[in-house]
Amino acid sequence: MFMEIKFIKQKIVTVWIWVIILMRACDGVDISCPSECTCRSTINLEEENALRVECTQGDMQSIPVDFLDHKAEIVIISAPPGRPNYLTIGPIFTQPTPFVNLRELHIVNSNVPSIGQYSFWGLQNLRLVNLTHNNLTSIGADNFRGLINLTELYLDFNNIEQMPSETFRHLTALKILSLPHNQISALVPRLFRMLAKLFFLDLSYNPLVDLNPEVFKDIQQLQIFKCRRCLLQRVNTQIYHLVPHLEELDLGENQFKYLTSDEFISLKKLKILKLDGNQLSVVVDNMFGRNRELRVLSLARNRLALLAPASLTNLTSLVHLDISHNKIDRFHLQTFAPVVNSLKTINFSGNNLPLNEISIVLQVLPQIHEVGLANLSLNEIPVNFFTYNEHLVSLDISWNKMLTFPYKLLTKTKFLQHLDISRNRLYTLNEEDLQRLEAIASVNLSKNHWRCDQCSAEAMLVYMTTTVLNMTIRQLKCHSPLRLRGVFFGDLNLDSLELCATTHEAQMSVIAGLMLLCVAILAAVTTALCCSRRRAAHYYTNEEKRREHEHEHPEELLGRTDLGSVATIHAPVHLMTKGS
Ligand SMILES: *[C@@H]1O[C@H](CO)[C@@H](O)[C@H](O)[C@H]1NC(C)=O
Ligand SMILES: *[C@@H]1O[C@H](CO)[C@@H](O)[C@H](O)[C@H]1NC(C)=O
Ligand SMILES: *[C@@H]1O[C@H](CO)[C@@H](O)[C@H](O)[C@H]1NC(C)=O
Ligand SMILES: *[C@@H]1O[C@H](CO)[C@@H](O)[C@H](O)[C@H]1NC(C)=O
Ligand SMILES: *[C@@H]1O[C@H](CO)[C@@H](O)[C@H](O)[C@H]1NC(C)=O
Ligand SMILES: *[C@@H]1O[C@H](CO)[C@@H](O)[C@H](O)[C@H]1NC(C)=O
Ligand SMILES: *[C@@H]1O[C@H](CO)[C@@H](O)[C@H](O)[C@H]1NC(C)=O
Ligand SMILES: *[C@@H]1O[C@H](CO)[C@@H](O)[C@H](O)[C@H]1NC(C)=O
Repeated sequence: MFMEIKFIKQKIVTVWIWVIILMRACDGVDISCPSECTCRSTINLEEENALRVECTQGDMQSIPVDFLDHKAEIVIISAPPGRPNYLTIGPIFTQPTPFVNLRELHIVNSNVPSIGQYSFWGLQNLRLVNLTHNNLTSIGADNFRGLINLTELYLDFNNIEQMPSETFRHLTALKILSLPHNQISALVPRLFRMLAKLFFLDLSYNPLVDLNPEVFKDIQQLQIFKCRRCLLQRVNTQIYHLVPHLEELDLGENQFKYLTSDEFISLKKLKILKLDGNQLSVVVDNMFGRNRELRVLSLARNRLALLAPASLTNLTSLVHLDISHNKIDRFHLQTFAPVVNSLKTINFSGNNLPLNEISIVLQVLPQIHEVGLANLSLNEIPVNFFTYNEHLVSLDISWNKMLTFPYKLLTKTKFLQHLDISRNRLYTLNEEDLQRLEAIASVNLSKNHWRCDQCSAEAMLVYMTTTVLNMTIRQLKCHSPLRLRGVFFGDLNLDSLELCATTHEAQMSVIAGLMLLCVAILAAVTTALCCSRRRAAHYYTNEEKRREHEHEHPEELLGRTDLGSVATIHAPVHLMTKGS
């Protein structure tokens, strides 16, 4: 009964959908669509019909605006990488009949050299303009006249150098301004005037060298600011006073050498801070004391030798910490005290850290879910390494020197779901290893020293054909023997494999041993012969014999003459080994 009702309901729904489609088809009788484009109706956010036009074949010389339906809400003109368009835009969408419904306009990869005055005049519904990957060199206020409801403007990947004062003054509703990958070298005064609602600004990959604090007076609602690789050596902290609502700050790949302890003192709402790829050599005490809401902190790829004992003070909400690729060789345990209950991911990769330093930190981080241990020259990891990290879900031990799969270690990490052990020196996996691997959802085993002979590869080939590991193993490449180097496991079968390297090697070593023995016997016989001759020659020189005797026991000689100094030489060595 219940099932029947459900069925009928479904029927009604299908019929209704058909009615809508037919209505739309009637509606669309007068839809015109240029031959190089596709035009279709979609449901927009307000659940209304929205006409969407896409011209994405490339090689266009002009926009076929006369053939475009003036009711279009979304227009996408782009080109595949090898076939760019060569387009210009003037007021084509406003005259003679304006595209009054136009909400989104994308003109991408089209070598547009400039926008032209009043191009968007009267397009009151336009919310988003996407002109990424063009050849714009300058923009000005007149380009954007009339875009009173525009909220998003994307100008990434152009050649913009010039932006005069008040360039965006007509865009009073703008919330997102994206300008990465241009040639902007200065922010002129009042550049962002009238952008009071702006909350996202991306200036990354521009040769700015310096940020003019003055321009930030006009964008005090900013919440996300990115200036990655802007050639910055410092930021005038006055800027941070002007944008107290900032939640995300990306200053990665700049040239910061030093940050003061009050650097970020005004950014009390900060949640994400990226300082990776700079030249910081120290994180001083209390540096983030006022950033109590910080959740993500990246300090990767700097020159840090040490985190000061109080460098993470007050970071009780920190979830992700990336300190990979620095020069850290030890920790102060108290550094991590503030984050013990919050930290979920930590990346130690590429430091000079011995495992015992890492293990001490992991012992105080019971909530940890993700650990990065790549590029640490690890040969093995002790079995009890993750004893205190029972929530471990993701582990990266790539780019190390592991010879054997850490089976025993991983039997204790019950919830592990992601394992990257690529670029190590594993040469085989036995059945136990493979069974453990089967229970891990994503595994990367590539770029290891897989040995493709019957002994080493047998279990792997069996698992390749019968289990969930099939795709993972299929894509591995043999490293030895030389004959099979680079061959995919997927192209192997057991019969075509060589005999086991181990038995082969054993045979070889027996032969080699025998040969060595022969050589040794021969050598012994020859030496004996020689010696007896020499002795015969020097039989009468007593002096010679005495000297030989002295050289046999040099320590006796040392002991007799200077015992004290030997003792003092040895003492510090002993202390050092004890201390390390
Ligand atoms: C801009 O257009 C390109 C090509 O259609 C698209 O891939 C990209 O996501 C668009 N960007 C935005 C922010 O919509
Ligand atoms: C892009 O603009 C520059 C400067 O105006 C010009 O030299 C170059 O030829 C333009 N490139 C294309 C593909 O139009
Ligand atoms: C666009 O902005 C004008 C002026 O602010 C406003 O009257 C109008 O309602 C807006 N249009 C839409 C569709 O929001
Ligand atoms: C840590 O936060 C507390 C409470 O907001 C504050 O009083 C203290 O000064 C902060 N510590 C540092 C080092 O800024
Ligand atoms: C460090 O490891 C974390 C977690 O495994 C990862 O999300 C992050 O991308 C890594 N960082 C770098 C620089 O590789
Ligand atoms: C390991 O180091 C190499 C060389 O520096 C680097 O290319 C690679 O990205 C690093 N891998 C990880 C996971 O850190
Ligand atoms: C596996 O690791 C290799 C080498 O580190 C890398 O090139 C590859 O992209 C990784 N594959 C996946 C699926 O993560
Ligand atoms: C190969 O693995 C996939 C999942 O990765 C599984 O759905 C499929 O059944 C496996 N094939 C064989 C032959 O086991």
